[in-house]
Amino acid sequence: MNSIEKGDRVVLWKGDEAVLLFADGETKKVSGIGVINTDRLVGKRWGSEISLGRNSYRLLQPSLADTPEILERDAQVILPRIGAQIALYCDIHCGKRVIEGGAGSGMFSALLSKKIGREGELVTYEVREDHLRTAEKNLERLDLPNNWCLKNGDVTKDVKERDVDAFVVDIPEPWKALKMAEKALKDGAHFAAYVPSTDQLGETVRSMRDYGFFRIKSFEFLERDMVVGERGVRPSFEMLGHTGYVAVGRKAPKG
Ligand SMILES: C[S@@+](CC[C@H](N)C(=O)[O-])C[C@H]1O[C@@H](n2cnc3c(N)ncnc32)[C@H](O)[C@@H]1O
Repeated sequence: MNSIEKGDRVVLWKGDEAVLLFADGETKKVSGIGVINTDRLVGKRWGSEISLGRNSYRLLQPSLADTPEILERDAQVILPRIGAQIALYCDIHCGKRVIEGGAGSGMFSALLSKKIGREGELVTYEVREDHLRTAEKNLERLDLPNNWCLKNGDVTKDVKERDVDAFVVDIPEPWKALKMAEKALKDGAHFAAYVPSTDQLGETVRSMRDYGFFRIKSFEFLERDMVVGERGVRPSFEMLGHTGYVAVGRKAPKG
């Protein structure tokens, strides 16, 4: 469909701002924008502009790339561009069964849910109930397949699932999850950890070796925007110089 229908999720975008709204016919107060009757959005073409107050906003279908701007954040998140790299190296795609440790705000869960699609299954363990609630609220706001489940539990102790295709964690001590990962993963399947410091990366990778994980790769993923002017092209001066490090490896069969 080229036009917005009643009930659609719509991102209002202007420069660095992006706000997610439901076109459910209700009148909403949106911080930074003001009051809007969402019926005004219905029938407008995707990508078209709407004037609100003194500003003009583009009306967009929500995409994963928008999630950092539109989701509420309780904790440090895995940005979609890094999540996409983790999904690539863990071969996470349609129909895969994935265990995630540390829901946080649900940013990475959203990416995983979209990647595995309707045939896949995502089970996310989160120890903190407040983070679980934020993640749930965020995931429900997005248009995701009905394939995700949030569990209040410890990913280093409580995982019941077996024969899963990938086990990914964003927790402070990923090495403590390796015992559970070893039990839950299929032979040859992927484990990945995202950590903010090199000390955590070192301890994770050394522990992965101790558990027999192989084809281990650790990396940092940096992205630099380019500024394209009328007369020339240059790299942006504003680059996010550090987010986190990733370790990925495969489970070796035992016995
Ligand atoms: C940095 S946040 C995760 C952010 C998430 N990846 C995202 O993109 O929104 C880390 C989360 O892991 C949770 N956590 C820490 N240890 C855990 C454990 N052993 N099992 C499950 N969750 C854990 C914390 O409560 C916190 O919510």
